[in-house]
Amino acid sequence: MATTVMGSGFALGEHEVTNEALKRVCDTSDEWIKERTGIATRYYVADGTSTSDLGVRASQAAIADAGLTASDIDYVVFATMTPDYYFPGSGALLQTKLGLGKVPTLDIRQQCTGFIYGLQVADALLRAKAAKRVLLVGAEVHSGFMPWRDHGMVFGTTDARPTAAEYEFNTRYRDRTVLFGDAAGAVVLTSSEGPRGLLDVVLHSDGQYAEKLYVPSGFKFRPYITEEMIKEGRHIPEMDGQRVFRVAVSKLPEVVHEVLDKSGLKLEDISLLLAHQANLRLNEAVQKALGLPDDKVYNNIQKYGNTTAATIPILYDECKKAGRIKPGDLICFLALGAGFHWGAALLRA
Ligand code: COA
Repeated sequence: MATTVMGSGFALGEHEVTNEALKRVCDTSDEWIKERTGIATRYYVADGTSTSDLGVRASQAAIADAGLTASDIDYVVFATMTPDYYFPGSGALLQTKLGLGKVPTLDIRQQCTGFIYGLQVADALLRAKAAKRVLLVGAEVHSGFMPWRDHGMVFGTTDARPTAAEYEFNTRYRDRTVLFGDAAGAVVLTSSEGPRGLLDVVLHSDGQYAEKLYVPSGFKFRPYITEEMIKEGRHIPEMDGQRVFRVAVSKLPEVVHEVLDKSGLKLEDISLLLAHQANLRLNEAVQKALGLPDDKVYNNIQKYGNTTAATIPILYDECKKAGRIKPGDLICFLALGAGFHWGAALLRA
């Protein structure tokens, strides 16, 4: 028996946001963003749409794609770093909005690697017969941590403009804010007989890097957020971008080799690499280090930016629906993100 994907789907924030639109709130340029990251557009939710709402839309698409209805799902694993509330997690909210009944929901928080961790968790649940059909969701509303006070300025739906002080404050975070978009991706997983399915997962974490990419507020502080902290921007992620980049360039190719070795497979066996989308330049460096040709790699950061836990299921769904994943293909999922957590998984389509 192996864990197979029955269906997949994704959803995007309601507003497309171009690089030009971000110039209304901070000092940046289309050239800089494209040159350093590859990103041309990303999507932000409309005011009021939450992470669980996006998760619901992606899940409905995945459940329909699987030819199932909500009552067929008996477990939810929800990966996000931007939950609707500090607590509870978004899994229970999604369960109720989708009308799944009282099935268990498990929230996991491995950021960009959330989906790959989720695959291993779902696989273990299925093997342990704790579930028959697991809905694995990755969803994020990053626009909630953007420094500007009014998203209407970005959407072009208001005449308001940032004050000089706000513009300066927003610009302080431009190396991060331009990267992220809001989205959700979901898959329905089950156990099937036959050669298809999840072959292996290799995961790692290293907490020595925790403060290289993190939000410096939380329950370590009393109270956990103050007006002073907000003025200091401590509700916005801190990121040592160059350090993240350097660690990722070295760890990502390594973990691909590790998962291949574990499965007794070779690089040439990979049909398609679906790597987390944090930076196109980073993915190009990883592709080069692995020596994979362009037709074995798919990137979509140009359209969506970095969507953290949503990225990998979106890549999968786009490739599946575009006919880039054929029966028998070997798909390699790959990610590194805050924690740091990183890992790779092999799926026989
Ligand atoms: N627009 C215009 N200029 C910008 C900018 C923006 N959005 N962001 C930064 N800059 C400027 C900086 O102020 C700096 O200017 P200076 O040379 O005058 O001081 C210059 O560009 C270089 O900034 P730097 O932050 O060193 O750029 P970089 O080449 O490291 O690129 C990242 C920044 C974030 C794109 C890059 O480090 C990266 O992608 N890192 C990995 C991120 C990642 O994987 N995160 C994990 C998420 S899961």
